[in-house]
Amino acid sequence: MDKIIIGGGRRLSGRVRIGGAKNAALPILVSALLCDGANIYDNVPRLQDIESIQRLLAHMGARIETDGSSVQIDARGLCDAEAPYDLVRKMRASVLVLGPLLARLKRVRVSLPGGCAIGARPINLHLKGLARLGAKIDIVHGYVEAEAECLIGNEIYFDIPTVTGTENLMMAAVLAQGETVLRNVAREPEIIALENALNRMGAKVEGAGTSVITIEGVESLHPARIEIIPDRIEAGTFLVAAALTQGDITLTNCEPAHLGAVIDKLRGTGAEIITDGRTIRVKGPDEIISVDVKTLPYPGFPTDMQAQFMVLMSVADGVSVISENIFENRFIHVSELRRLGADITVSGNTAMVRGQANLTGAPVMATDLRASASLILAGLVAKGTTEVNRVYHLDRGYEAIEEKFSALGADIRRER
Ligand code: EPU
Repeated sequence: MDKIIIGGGRRLSGRVRIGGAKNAALPILVSALLCDGANIYDNVPRLQDIESIQRLLAHMGARIETDGSSVQIDARGLCDAEAPYDLVRKMRASVLVLGPLLARLKRVRVSLPGGCAIGARPINLHLKGLARLGAKIDIVHGYVEAEAECLIGNEIYFDIPTVTGTENLMMAAVLAQGETVLRNVAREPEIIALENALNRMGAKVEGAGTSVITIEGVESLHPARIEIIPDRIEAGTFLVAAALTQGDITLTNCEPAHLGAVIDKLRGTGAEIITDGRTIRVKGPDEIISVDVKTLPYPGFPTDMQAQFMVLMSVADGVSVISENIFENRFIHVSELRRLGADITVSGNTAMVRGQANLTGAPVMATDLRASASLILAGLVAKGTTEVNRVYHLDRGYEAIEEKFSALGADIRRER
């Protein structure tokens, strides 16, 4: 099993290009299922999760061709409406096929995802929404079985803003009869990206980025060429790396407007941040000031940046209170960070982080994607050697992370 070995303590500097967003690419690639033709996607990141979704689409009969960061998906030969347990177990985002397959093939069978490392993560709101469009839904032998001769537009209210739930319903509704109004939806940039992709294919969707999305159903969609937006979480991870190592890093091909809450918090720590078009330059402070963080749905501070920020707070001057308000079990990185000397106490959904002068390297174990990123960051600042095990979590969502950090001057390598 691969591991990443890091010699900590180097100041990082230079330029790093941010890749396409995993969480925008996943629903957008799945939306190819809605269309009877060949779509082309550019700036697709090369990640395990992207490979998994492509494997699932291929399993359903889509033809997929990859050329560098461009991917062509032709769903004309769609034949199988089932997402098997093995694929859904590896990647929960597989549930995104529910909406489009129901719309296109009128029936779908998707393994019900279990809980995962960061929380229970039910999909009740996805299913409730699909039922409101007229789908008949059963849970049989661990599978969600849904069918609908014809989906009919309706008004759907989400109890909680859910990212993939909103995306699933958007994709189901574009081919439904009449108008669908989705209320209290997620407002993440990835939702806007999906709206843009669907509209390029001829759908009539508006309101993404606000809490109400309106969809006027159309008869069919046509193929289009679509560019994936930059990954705001990869970008945020490099911003924190610069702040942590008193570095000076310029991020290129990123979207500063998607990082408002993260940039604001980093400025609070004393980091200097200059944005210019699609680049962000960040200079780490000599002394990191502690700030408090509350994760919230977008445009609040992203839960996907909580673990990385906790590392920064572990070496800050003062005490920071971090509350996790999206997932109920997203502090699994804490015990690993403690092994490096971090002083963190958890009570319920709140972590109190007392900044230390130094962390010291040790072997640690990655437990989920963003937790893995936090351990890499901790290794970059810890004295001595840190060995991060189980990096397959990291490979799900960060492309060539060790090469990118190495090019910025880090002492980091992968052992296979
Ligand atoms: N929820 C329900 N019922 C539902 C759906 C969600 O109770 O039917 C709850 C969840 O349990 C959670 C909250 O609603 O407490 C929000 O979850 P959401 O549905 O928004 O999360 P998601 O769509 O499963 C996406 C990202 C995650 C990211 C979250 C929050 C993708 C593929 N995944 O997950 O990304 O953390 O939104 O922003 O877009 C990651 O990339 O590492 C990652 C976990």
